[in-house]
Amino acid sequence: MNRMNCDLSDVLFDEFKIQNRIRELGMLIASDYKDSTPVLIGILKGGFIFLSDLVRSIRIPLEIDFLAISSYGSGTSSSGVVKIRKDIDIDISGRDVIVVEDIVDSGLSLQYIRDYLLQHNPASVRTCVLLDKPASHKMDVSFEYVGFEISDEFVVGYGLDFNEQYRNLPYIGILKESLYK
Ligand code: IMP
Ligand code: MG
Repeated sequence: MNRMNCDLSDVLFDEFKIQNRIRELGMLIASDYKDSTPVLIGILKGGFIFLSDLVRSIRIPLEIDFLAISSYGSGTSSSGVVKIRKDIDIDISGRDVIVVEDIVDSGLSLQYIRDYLLQHNPASVRTCVLLDKPASHKMDVSFEYVGFEISDEFVVGYGLDFNEQYRNLPYIGILKESLYK
């Protein structure tokens, strides 16, 4: 048991489950984009591990960029304000874009990101999210590729943090409520 394990009430997805699902998503994306060279935009920081595993499972030419946003303060619920902290570098006009995001909770961040990217006149924008909390959506967000649906609990690991910690856990678990309530 390491110190981080003790802070979890449960493990939701182990490394094996995550990698299997990512392989399926990668094959689906490769087949959908077989005649294109899409630009995958990882949303920092939470999406960095998902993006790095996902791109290695997509066996077609593609390009990678990053967008850093902040929508949360230091707690476990959205501050409601989304800010861009690092812009994309690749010119996406006329390109097929795939947004790669760690988790959709209220849907606010994703909505903001999609609207922002659409201003750059891409040919298309689709979204691939590792985790979705359908019961928490506050708006009608749509995304094309989903790893897993989960209930409304605060999860950490595999890129997802609480106060910047736990991102390095190789699996995804539920954070004990006593640590933030
Ligand atoms: P939304 O804007 O409410 O959909 O929140 C999306 C962002 O909040 C995600 O990209 C995460 O960075 C963060 N977030 C939402 N739920 C969780 C969670 O359960 N664990 C860790 N981060 C989360
Ligand atoms: Mg995020």
